[in-house]
Parts: sequence; C-alpha cells; structure tokens
Amino acid sequence: MSNWKPGTRLQNGRYEIKKVLGYGGSGITYHATEYPQGHPVAIKTLNAIIQNEPDFSKHQERFIQEAFCLAKCNHPHVIKVHSVCQEGQLWCMVMDYVAGGTIRQYVNYKNGITEEEALNYIQQIGSALTYIHEQGFIHRDVKPGNIMLRKRDMQAILIDFGLAREFVQDKIQTHTNSRTESFAPLEQYELTAKRGAYTDVYALAATLYYVLTLQLPFPSPFRQQGATLIPPQQHNPNISDTVNVAILQGMELRSEKRPQSIQEWLKLLTEKKVTIARQRTLRNSRQVMLNAARKEQLATATVSRSSSLKDTTPKSPKDTKTAQNVSKIASISHSRVNYKNLEEFLSTGKLKEADQETAKIILKITNREKAGWLDQHHVENLPCQELEIINQLWHEGSNGHFGFSVQKKLYQQLGGNQNYDAKIWRDFAQKVGWKQHKNWLSYKDLNFNLWAPQGHLPMLGMEFWGFTGWLTVLIRQLDNCQI
Ligand SMILES: Nc1ncnc2c1ncn2[C@@H]1O[C@H](COP(=O)(O)OP(=O)(O)O)[C@@H](O)[C@H]1O
Ligand SMILES: [Mg+2]
Repeated sequence: MSNWKPGTRLQNGRYEIKKVLGYGGSGITYHATEYPQGHPVAIKTLNAIIQNEPDFSKHQERFIQEAFCLAKCNHPHVIKVHSVCQEGQLWCMVMDYVAGGTIRQYVNYKNGITEEEALNYIQQIGSALTYIHEQGFIHRDVKPGNIMLRKRDMQAILIDFGLAREFVQDKIQTHTNSRTESFAPLEQYELTAKRGAYTDVYALAATLYYVLTLQLPFPSPFRQQGATLIPPQQHNPNISDTVNVAILQGMELRSEKRPQSIQEWLKLLTEKKVTIARQRTLRNSRQVMLNAARKEQLATATVSRSSSLKDTTPKSPKDTKTAQNVSKIASISHSRVNYKNLEEFLSTGKLKEADQETAKIILKITNREKAGWLDQHHVENLPCQELEIINQLWHEGSNGHFGFSVQKKLYQQLGGNQNYDAKIWRDFAQKVGWKQHKNWLSYKDLNFNLWAPQGHLPMLGMEFWGFTGWLTVLIRQLDNCQI
C-alpha cells in the first residue's frame, strides 16, 4: 500500500485525487474532486507509513472510530463528513473541502489578529466543542492547526477528530497517550487519568493563547516541574485583563481548578468584564474619597508645620513626637505619589515590576528614596491611606492571591500576633515561598507570577526591610489601619 498519486480515481471513479493537503502522524488528507458534480472534497485516510506498520489494523480501527464519530455530527463549526468508505483495504472519509487555511497559518500570515476577531473564532469553536461534548465525545486534539478558517465567510471549522474518544465525565479510563505538546493538559500525559470536557477547555484556552500571542505556551509537564506559564498579556499588552485571566484559568494545571465546561469558560471571556469594570469603578470612587481625605490632612499638616520638618529622618525612633512628624510629612509627600504604574504593572501581570514599583512608592511616602531601605519607625508610621491603596491594588490585581492583607491573614493563621516570634516567622516564610527547603530565596529567584504561593508578593526584597521582625511591625500597622 502507498499514498495516492494525483489523478488516482477512487470508488469506481467517483473521486479523483488532486493533491495532498496535509500529512500528519498517522493520516494523510487529500484534495479531490467528486464526480459527476465536480465538487471539491477532502479525503482523509491513513498514510503510507502507518499502512506498513505491524499494528496497522489497530490504527485503522481508531480511524474508523474517528470517521463514524464525525459522521454522526451535524454542527456549522464541525467539519461535515459526507461518507465513510472502503477503498481496497483502506478506509477513508470524505469531507467538505474547506477553502482557506488553518487558523495557525492565518494568524501567522497576518502577524497577529485583534482580540475581537480571535474571540469570534474561539466562540465558534467553543460552540462546536459544546456540541460534541453533548454527543458524548471529547476532541482531545484542539489546537490552531486543527481549526480551519473558510475564506468565503471566515467561519471557523473544527477538524481532525483522530484522538476523539467517547467519555463519561470524570471517569478514569485508559486512553492512548497521544496529545500535542503545548496544547495538551497534564491529564493527557497520563495513561489512566480522569478526562472530561475540561480537557478540551485547556486546549481551547491554549489555542486562544497562541492565536493572540503567536507564542506556543509552555507544555504542561514543564509547568508542573516549575516552569511558569508567561501570562499572554506579557507577550501582547493589547490583550484585555478579562481575556488574560480567562486564558490562565482555562489553562490551570489541575483540571479541578479549571472551568468544568466549555460554556463556563466562554462565559469568563465576557462576563468577567463586568466584574473588572465594577472593581475599577469602586477603585476610582475610593480614590476620590482618599484624595479628599488627603487634602484635608494636608491642610491640617500645613497648620502644624514646624521648622524641624526639613529633616525627615527622626534622630531617635523613641522620639515619638518626631515620629509623628515623619508620619505627617509622609502624608504630605505621598500626595506626589502616582499609582498609575503600579496599577498598570499589576493588570498586565508584570509582577516583578509591580513589586519594585511598590518599593519605590513606599520609599517615596517615607522620604527614604535616598536611603533605599526602611527602619522600624518608618514601618510603624506607614500612612494608612497609602497602605490601603497599595494593598487594594495588589489584592485586586491578583484576584485575592497577593497583598499585605493576605500576608497578615496567613501570618495570623500560623499563630502570629503582634510580637515577633522567630519560629512563626520561619514558618511563614516557608508558607509564602520566600524560603524553600530551609533556604531563603534571593530576590531574583522569587516567583513573580500568579502561580507563586499565596501571599508570596509583595516582598520588596530583604534589603528593603532594614531590621528583623519587620513583618510583625508591618502587621501591627495594618491592624492599626484596620486593613
Ligand atoms: N476538510 C478539509 N478541507 C481542507 N483542508 C483540510 C481539511 N481537512 C484537513 N485539511 C488540511 O489537512 C491538514 C491535515 O489534516 P488533519 O485532519 O488535521 O490531519 P492530521 O493532523 O492527523 O494529519 C490540515 O491541517 C489542513 O491543512
Ligand atoms: Mg491535525
């Protein structure tokens, strides 16, 4: 057996092979003409390599399964199978010919497309997947190379059901260990693992990642070993927060953390917009209130201003009067602080930049820019408004994963109170991932991404905090400020 040459006639002359469209791991797809109408069709069968393999019949069985699975389907975004037939010893399936190309070819040719256009195709493939899940199948090989775009009406069509399997959601079944790197979730690397609609959720989210960034996401086993998935927004800042978060949620390593159905995931692409918009409005109104409070404080501070205010560093931390002045100066000077950069870094997933910007802001509000680090009384006098804003930005920018208040909660859960305790401090550092296997991580080795342990950020660097027990002091101040 071998591949068919152009001009070969199949099924008693009904189809004439024109050319090869694609050659995959086990299949070969031809462009052919159907007579007497002269319609173009695509014919897929097993390629010459597989035909000569000793386990050919096993492959053929799977192929027939793909063909019949598809033949049962009827959906505008699922490739239409006209017939499943046998030519000699080879089974083949005759499909609609899609004049166009794969979405992978298209986005590369265009050198990227807008989010709006990408979402349109993803919604279409999402509805195709919802449909095939309802039929009791999972596709298991969703990727940009298996989505065609029909040039005539720019509709997206899902093809290549070679790995599709019947499934019962969450049932552990033995599946063949096939998958495409970069688009396959972790459970597809295990022979016996639960699989369900969420398996295709991962692949569709990874497809959107590629379509919007032209970058292959890190394969899931690499990620499991510690390689962190770069948020798509870091590759392409035009990606909205909503879509960035939805992609990351769809690509959660653990299947139980992912949206469990395609519909649920598709909703995240649009619905969360409302929540983020609401958060923004809340943040803005809070900002207005804080600005008003600041103005008021500025007025009070101006009245009580004294000549000693020039020197912003108190001579002795015990000098509470001076300390109070520091606090006042901080309140005055922080009106110069601009939170735009911090907000921008957090919303685009640039967490290292966000951490460093936080350090900058705190140094600015304590007038410690020159020194570059804080002493105990600076932490004791951190102004509540600023702490509140910084904390809110971190909290919201990480969906509640990071922020001073998160660190405070974790610290208290470990039994920490307002007094420094070396053991609790070590346990805490271990818990938030600042210490690993009893070793402190250097600043550059911290995890500046959303997969870091809860409370990992902000950290600001050990050199920033010039004294032991700074966390206890910071937490005391958070308590004072009711944060
Ligand atoms: N119905 C079709 N119409 C047009 N081109 C197709 C069609 N089906 C497949 N192709 C082309 O053939 C390639 C390989 O087909 P596919 O079904 O993905 O098989 P495999 O990846 O197993 O080789 C596709 O990437 C696409 O370029
Ligand atoms: Mg394919």
